[in-house]
Amino acid sequence: MTQAEFLAKIDNQLRPFILLINPWLATLTYSYGRKLFLKLLSSEIPKTKFEPPSELHRKFWDIQFQLPLFNAAGMFKNAEGYFTVASQGAGAYLAGTVTYRKRKGNFKNGILHPFLPYHSSGSASNWMGLPNEGFDIIAKRLSKIEKVKGCPVGISLSFSPDAEMNTAIKEMLEGMEMFEKANVDFIELNESCPNVKHAEHENQEKNLWLRMEQISEKFLAKRKRNLPVIVKFSNDTTSEQIPNLIDNLINFGFDGINFGNTSTEYPNYLEDIDRYDIKNFQYFTNTYKGGLSGKILKQKSLDLCTTAVNQVKNKNFRKEFHIIRTGGVETIDDIKASNSNSILINQWFTGYFSAFSMYGHKLYEKMFSSSEITEKKYYIQIKKIT
Ligand SMILES: Cc1cc2nc3c(=O)[nH]c(=O)nc-3n(C[C@H](O)[C@H](O)[C@H](O)COP(=O)(O)O)c2cc1C
Repeated sequence: MTQAEFLAKIDNQLRPFILLINPWLATLTYSYGRKLFLKLLSSEIPKTKFEPPSELHRKFWDIQFQLPLFNAAGMFKNAEGYFTVASQGAGAYLAGTVTYRKRKGNFKNGILHPFLPYHSSGSASNWMGLPNEGFDIIAKRLSKIEKVKGCPVGISLSFSPDAEMNTAIKEMLEGMEMFEKANVDFIELNESCPNVKHAEHENQEKNLWLRMEQISEKFLAKRKRNLPVIVKFSNDTTSEQIPNLIDNLINFGFDGINFGNTSTEYPNYLEDIDRYDIKNFQYFTNTYKGGLSGKILKQKSLDLCTTAVNQVKNKNFRKEFHIIRTGGVETIDDIKASNSNSILINQWFTGYFSAFSMYGHKLYEKMFSSSEITEKKYYIQIKKIT
């Protein structure tokens, strides 16, 4: 058993008791414990590499993904741990979210980057504030990765939340070129972080499309190689917003959409929180606010992505546009549910850690080893939309 596997197992046993002590102490423990765990995790390379069988591979945007599941943004903010997840068999690796300038992230009540799991509810809250080392350093780090076949590298980028709009756009364009040169395989624009104070330009929908238009004209239209760019929105998006979002993204030349990021609709999810977690949930959402993740988002992410898939199916356009599901993905049944709704690829964050505490580095192998899922019927062929 590796150190990360040992820590995850011990934590899984102790967690229900630690969480009952006191909400502030529990937040302190898990905010720092999470970072210690991630440091260990990303320094470990599993001895036996899992090579997913070909029935599980997905190919789209001319990129090969060895599995229909990989980590969501925020897990490896500073581009650590590529070989850890590539050897585990992950379908891809996503670094970031990264901003133009280095950011320290949020600090309150003696706690840096507050995070609190809701163990009995399979969910969590976080209020990180996009801590990261900045475009320059991360691009250099990613450029040195020797990629494993079937595990492409993505980068999640955010406009500087505190910069004035023209500056934020200029910086983003510079960053996208940096990552294009750094040989990443795809870019995810994070338009959905609930944990930063946004400058005026970020708050208005009109300005969202002004930003996207600039990215479209000055980057998407001038890409020097195959480099898909997708946009990640919140799981708080309503299904009524989807047609407009998809139409605009397609018109601007984007390649996909991700639903989505954490939720700030606390009252809506209160009834899904187990009674053992309620006190901690009230403490966190009143004190730090932050974003909700995990099981409670399962249905919403599935519904939004299904609506998006149907919207795209009805379109008649000459390029691929793909829907990525993130939110509450934790078991093979979630992957099956995505498949049967033609959602071809998924990301996970909260569920990854629960799976790791059960299976350690073999998590992808165990999850996909069920004979049912390796049957081809779950894997629809990707056809180019023409
Ligand atoms: C601690 C933590 C940090 C996160 N950081 C980011 C981030 O930097 N960028 C981003 O787009 N999403 C971030 N997220 C959101 C996740 O990528 C994901 O969208 C969300 O947690 C829902 O997925 P899940 O239910 O599988 O956790 C973060 C989530 C957590 C729990």
